[in-house]
Amino acid sequence: MTMISCLDHLECTCCGSRFSADEPHRVCADCGKVLYARYDLDAAAAGFSREALRGRRPDMWRYFEMMPVRDEENVVSLGEGFTPLHAVNRLGREMNVERLLLKDEGLNPTASFKARGLSAAVSRSRELGLNRLTMPSAGNAAGALAAYAARAGMEARVFMPQDAPEANMQEAAVAGARLRLVDGLIGDAGLLARREAAEHGLFDVSTLQEPYRVEGKKTMGYEIAEQMNWTLPDAIVYPTGGGTGIVGMWKAFEEMEALGWIDGSRPKMFCVQAEGCAPIVSAFDRGAEFADPWPRASTVAPGIRVPAAIGDYLILRALRESGGGAQTVTDSEILSWIGKVASLEGIFVCPEGAAATAAIPKLLERGALSDSETVLILNTGSGLKNLEVFPSESSI
Ligand SMILES: Cc1ncc(COP(=O)(O)O)c(C=O)c1O
Repeated sequence: MTMISCLDHLECTCCGSRFSADEPHRVCADCGKVLYARYDLDAAAAGFSREALRGRRPDMWRYFEMMPVRDEENVVSLGEGFTPLHAVNRLGREMNVERLLLKDEGLNPTASFKARGLSAAVSRSRELGLNRLTMPSAGNAAGALAAYAARAGMEARVFMPQDAPEANMQEAAVAGARLRLVDGLIGDAGLLARREAAEHGLFDVSTLQEPYRVEGKKTMGYEIAEQMNWTLPDAIVYPTGGGTGIVGMWKAFEEMEALGWIDGSRPKMFCVQAEGCAPIVSAFDRGAEFADPWPRASTVAPGIRVPAAIGDYLILRALRESGGGAQTVTDSEILSWIGKVASLEGIFVCPEGAAATAAIPKLLERGALSDSETVLILNTGSGLKNLEVFPSESSI
């Protein structure tokens, strides 16, 4: 049966300005903040039910009516999404959490959740006739853009810090992306991507600086609800860099409530950052609406080494509206939890997923979580992509 997207318009998350969804837009032309795709929720509520999902493709495009691509022919897919949601009981016992769940995004194509965002952005770019894309990346997003652009026969130019993981450089290069390494952090890479876009006519798909990557990431929220039989956990603990995943899930919960798919009891959202780069945690603790850029950002978890996020106000809003919070962890805690999760559960989490895990005992200790709550860890990628975090002589 033909699926029809209910995509309606784009809306600024800050000033509320509206724009057509059928022409290319990046950020809000009026205030420079983040644009969200908005859907005709009445049409979706009338024509798209939970039952309609039965028998659909087992990937994130099963939620097509609430996805931003009009013609299914334009979907560029490698089977992203519908990743396993594991009960991790041994890990739960180790931490004293009665019901601990882990959603393993390491099983996505390109071995990270970045596949979701880039599948959505590349698909929509193709539909809008944008065939040359550029982007800065801490690593995983570059690999994902390279893969999806290759799949679509499109051009990709990516900018990465020169100390980004080796696996990310290789995966971008073998997929034929033009890769430039930058002596600096992701913000410096972003300046170069913007210049490249302006000078050579490419479209810049930087995190939350175009409206569609977040639409891919939001499907994590839809899946969690579907996999939990249309309930949600009490808390979601998420390793936060640019924040697309956390704000995407929050958007998904809002949409599913409007569709009548879930009731109004949403999870507490917790953002986890490293002690060496914690702009959102600091802003949360200060009660600020926006975060200050973090000087000399440093951590073993490359995906959360993001000193400034354009969507800071959206992340902070989700944390506060949900009654959640923000927590830092140290690099040595991150490394030690990689080993504990692998040895207790057989799951080789990425350093960012280990950061989320490491935060849980701390959140329990300060009473932000209780041991009787259902807590969900988002493991955002595979540890196999970050082997350099281990000293070469370790554990073998
Ligand atoms: C493995 C991993 N985890 C987490 C993040 C942070 O993601 P977000 O931008 O959604 O906060 C990244 C981003 O690069 C990543 O690669």
